Amino acid sequence: MQKLALITGAKGGIGSAITERLVEDGYKVIATYYTGNYDCAKQWFDEKGFTSNQVALFELDVTDTTSCHERLAQLQETYGTVDVLVNNAGITRDTSFKKMTAAQWHDVINTNLNSLFNVTQPLFASMCEKGNGRIINISSVNGLKGQFGQTNYSAAKAGMIGFSKALAYEGARCGVTVNVVAPGYTGTPMVQAMRQDVLDAIVDTVPMKRLARPEEIAQAVAFLASDAGAYITGETLSVNGGLYMQ
Ligand code: CAA
Repeated sequence: MQKLALITGAKGGIGSAITERLVEDGYKVIATYYTGNYDCAKQWFDEKGFTSNQVALFELDVTDTTSCHERLAQLQETYGTVDVLVNNAGITRDTSFKKMTAAQWHDVINTNLNSLFNVTQPLFASMCEKGNGRIINISSVNGLKGQFGQTNYSAAKAGMIGFSKALAYEGARCGVTVNVVAPGYTGTPMVQAMRQDVLDAIVDTVPMKRLARPEEIAQAVAFLASDAGAYITGETLSVNGGLYMQ
């Protein structure tokens, strides 16, 4: 039977590569998009040439607890239990801490960290009941090492790692693994939006002297989702060209 994966922020740079990879691996992917962004999501779906057997677009505001619980309960009634959840949706609001507004702090914490509660809780119970599930959270090298101008983002991304380790203990007894993929600087619109001189200086500090390709992040996700990843839980897999070695 075709396995079901749900990816938040699926049409973003890394999300899109993960969607394509899991489709290649035979999954049906529920690709979530932010409320009101249907036209953009549909354009992405058409450009990628997905079929409705491969990908279903699904509106979800990952910051809204009540709506996530309701929408994801409906989703499971329609499609059954999700086998693989990839919490990928994320934003940046970079600025030095001195200049950071409360809105810039809360937007990033809500979208990148509180979303893990909102999206994972409604799906985790059914995974446990089924005795099988994979949860893969997309953090960042900057959650591990910190980054000038990203106190909000680094806090959220580090929080995702603590969340994953704690939930890994709860999932282990019922066949659900919980892991993190921590990408380095990746060739996506989010990174390409950075000031060129700042980005060049960062790439210069990467031992491999290049950005990651989104497919390289997707491969790590596919590995953790596959049978080969069955005995790995509570782990953080860095894909960062040697930028930060723990
Ligand atoms: N360490 C120490 N000091 C630094 C610094 C650093 N890394 N970066 C900047 N500074 C200093 C500057 O030298 C400057 O000092 P002076 O005032 O003495 O000249 C001061 O801080 C201000 O620097 P900027 O001119 O850069 O300030 P700005 O306000 O124009 O920009 C910023 C601030 C937007 C945060 C900018 O520094 C920046 O873009 N930083 C990089 C943030 C980053 O890496 N974002 C990643 C986005 S992609 C992503 O997040 C994906 C992922 O997971 C990897």
